[in-house]
Amino acid sequence: MNIRFNNQDALFAVENQQIENLKPQAEAALQTALNKTGRGNDFLGWVTLPNDVSEAEIANIEQCAARMAALSEVVVVVGIGGSYLGARAVIEALQNAFAPYVKGKFPHILYAGNNISEDYLHDLLGVLDNDDYSVVVISKSGTTTEPALAFRILKQHCEQKYGVEGAKQRIAAITDKARGALKTLADKEGYPTFVIPDDVGGRYSVLTPVGLLPIAMAGFNIRQLLQGAKDMQKFVAENVKYDQNPVLQYATIRNILYQKGLKVELLTSFEPQLFYFIEWFKQLFGESEGKEHKGIFPAGAIFSTDLHSLGQYIQEGTRQIFETVLAVENAHHRVAIPDDAENLDNLNYLQHRTIHEINQIARKGTCLAHVDGQVPNLCITVPEINEYHLGELIYFFEMSCAVSGYMLDVNPFDQPGVEAYKKNMFRLLGKPGA
Ligand code: PA5
Repeated sequence: MNIRFNNQDALFAVENQQIENLKPQAEAALQTALNKTGRGNDFLGWVTLPNDVSEAEIANIEQCAARMAALSEVVVVVGIGGSYLGARAVIEALQNAFAPYVKGKFPHILYAGNNISEDYLHDLLGVLDNDDYSVVVISKSGTTTEPALAFRILKQHCEQKYGVEGAKQRIAAITDKARGALKTLADKEGYPTFVIPDDVGGRYSVLTPVGLLPIAMAGFNIRQLLQGAKDMQKFVAENVKYDQNPVLQYATIRNILYQKGLKVELLTSFEPQLFYFIEWFKQLFGESEGKEHKGIFPAGAIFSTDLHSLGQYIQEGTRQIFETVLAVENAHHRVAIPDDAENLDNLNYLQHRTIHEINQIARKGTCLAHVDGQVPNLCITVPEINEYHLGELIYFFEMSCAVSGYMLDVNPFDQPGVEAYKKNMFRLLGKPGA
């Protein structure tokens, strides 16, 4: 296992006995997830997913990705929630930080159907007027309003630009195997279609075609991503004892901190390209745990950026936060502080040191400060950001979320609360039957 979990900087807030008391509950929760005996057990397909994705499916995804990418400067991924965040988390973690300004071998990935902003869609269509593009539309239910609206507009734009037959070469759909309006539409139009397994919910679906097709289109190695997840599956299995099992340790301590009144978990990183990974984490844990008036509120921040906005609150505000830091050991590139004989900026004490080295020290300094401020600090370290370690992290967080949710005694795989806004919106829009 390449990722390391460290809870040393949270132990000041937790008694050993509390960990001992909760360990059996964490172990039982893991068993419940692995044996598929708990609530929501018809949505546990993701547990074995890294091994279940067949060679034929991977090859099919890679072929479709290569064919459509060859036609496109831009790929628009249409989806919302679990039908887009996983792909975006991985793509934005791996791509050049200034991807839209850098011409590469692979298309730029843009997103639609994740909001209902008219100006956003207008501006997107402006880009698509000028660039060659493809569309991947993703919806498990096939009926979600946001992606359905965006796709109707994009389909028409695509057909007008490339003709009806040309558009069919540029559109792929990912949806349920049999149900939903998107399935009906994709079948009628003859789009290449990929299936989201019945037993995998949206927020656990990044290792299905939902994540794999867009990630492959962006030029990243989906085999390595799956391999990382596969290896992590072994390291968090039932037979791996508490002391070696980061899932059990993480789920246990976050539940203890929650019981002690720390109701907000702030996932932080000093790497801005992990912004969408944190967004994915927020959805995973928020939708899985936040129910029955329970659950840790998942929040996120990018440091050191947000130390200059949220830093004051974290240090001295209401004591309701614990922090989980996603630390990255190595940067891919080296940028060092140059010499400057005049030293007008007084930075010569840092000359020749690398930016990453300074970033690491900023992380350590922040941890010391936050611990001083009574903010328990958990730390998850990866050697570097690449497909393999992202695969490990994805599986680690998915399993931690399931275990944590069972420990909280909720169903981590449903999301009944998401319907509330939809009911009102449909009634207000005058949808027939609403
Ligand atoms: O995790 C979930 O289940 C949700 O966030 C869904 O992914 C989201 O609501 C989109 O649903 P669908 O894929 O059916 O369009």
